[in-house]
Amino acid sequence: MRYFTAGESHGPRLTAIIEGVPAGLPLTAEYINAELKRRQGGYGRGGRMKIESDQVEITSGVRHGLTMGSPITLNVTNRDFKNWTEIMSAADIEKKKKSIRKLTKPRPGHADLVGGMKYRFSDLRNSLERSSARETTMRVAVGAVAKRILEEVGMDLASHIVVFGGIEIDVPENLTVAEIKERARQSEVSIVNQDREQEIKDYIDQIKKEGNTIGGVIETVVGGVPVGLGSYVQWDRKLDAKIAQGVVSINAFKGVEFGLGFKDGYLKGSDVMDEIVWSKEDGYTRKSNNLGGFEGGMTNGQPIVVRGVMKPIPTLYKPLMSVDTETHEPYKASVERSDPTAVPAAAVVMESVVATVLAAEVLDKFSSDNMEELKEAVERHQQFVKAF
Ligand SMILES: Cc1cc2nc3c(=O)[nH]c(=O)nc-3n(C[C@H](O)[C@H](O)[C@H](O)COP(=O)(O)O)c2cc1C
Repeated sequence: MRYFTAGESHGPRLTAIIEGVPAGLPLTAEYINAELKRRQGGYGRGGRMKIESDQVEITSGVRHGLTMGSPITLNVTNRDFKNWTEIMSAADIEKKKKSIRKLTKPRPGHADLVGGMKYRFSDLRNSLERSSARETTMRVAVGAVAKRILEEVGMDLASHIVVFGGIEIDVPENLTVAEIKERARQSEVSIVNQDREQEIKDYIDQIKKEGNTIGGVIETVVGGVPVGLGSYVQWDRKLDAKIAQGVVSINAFKGVEFGLGFKDGYLKGSDVMDEIVWSKEDGYTRKSNNLGGFEGGMTNGQPIVVRGVMKPIPTLYKPLMSVDTETHEPYKASVERSDPTAVPAAAVVMESVVATVLAAEVLDKFSSDNMEELKEAVERHQQFVKAF
């Protein structure tokens, strides 16, 4: 399974084409829309989220609620485009061009300046439009299709925020994936500990008043994972590495870790390795899951536990210094609108990206022209592993 996304932040629409989805997968626009809605929610977001309620249109690959094995095209219309038709016109509107204000004030922490230098743009809007996190809409749409595949083979994902702008959320021990999902979805700030909800909201309000922004650390957990996805035989087949690339490819994500992650650097081997146990009912399992479900770049059957860190949103009301690319004069960046945080939305994006990498891997390992064969192949493999 592979996919592309296309579309600019203020262009007419966003598009994704996904190839390699088996035939016979139940898939509806409603299912995808529910995921898109989750991305648009979360405490601390306003502005555009209120203008746009994203709705997907499926224009290929699905008939009567079932995939056909052909490429699936997903489209999301940018409703705000009506206010941007000239600025974003694909036509060569030479005469009008002069009246369209060029963007020459690059924002620190954004792609504006480097994109302009790389692609030789005098109008930095050209780099702003595609580098915008609006693109993550299509990652979520593609992720929804991936989640449908994973659900059919018994895998489930959940995401929650474990650090919010420096505030650590104490996570109750031994929560199942289903419990994490339920708790995080009930929370406006995507945390599993309700007792901390108000404190986080108050902090977001305070940050907003200060004209500042915060990031955070997001954890995605995956249950029902078959043993042996990914491989150690070649560097680019290691699945933890593929997930790491996916997560760090999300706008503003700066790092990734699995299981105990960076804490490993402070611990002894005896405190890190997950001891192997065997029982007739479950076959081989582990006493702990410090390695986050991976050994040798392969899933070991334990839940996948992956965390990604998102930097604070770079657009601040609190002015930051930059330089105008036409005059070379310094200026204080001013902002029309920005949010104090987008970490809850980013949690949905991260979950979608992890789902997409996993679905591609499941389809790589198991026979996958159609869902029936796929499910049989996964089931056969699960039985083999249990009897090993
Ligand atoms: C869900 C989501 C929403 C975002 N919203 C904004 C935003 O409103 N304003 C902003 O300046 N950056 C926002 N960002 C971050 C920027 O897109 C990102 O920092 C920028 O494109 C530069 O890329 P880099 O941080 O990966 O280097 C958002 C990121 C995500 C994942």
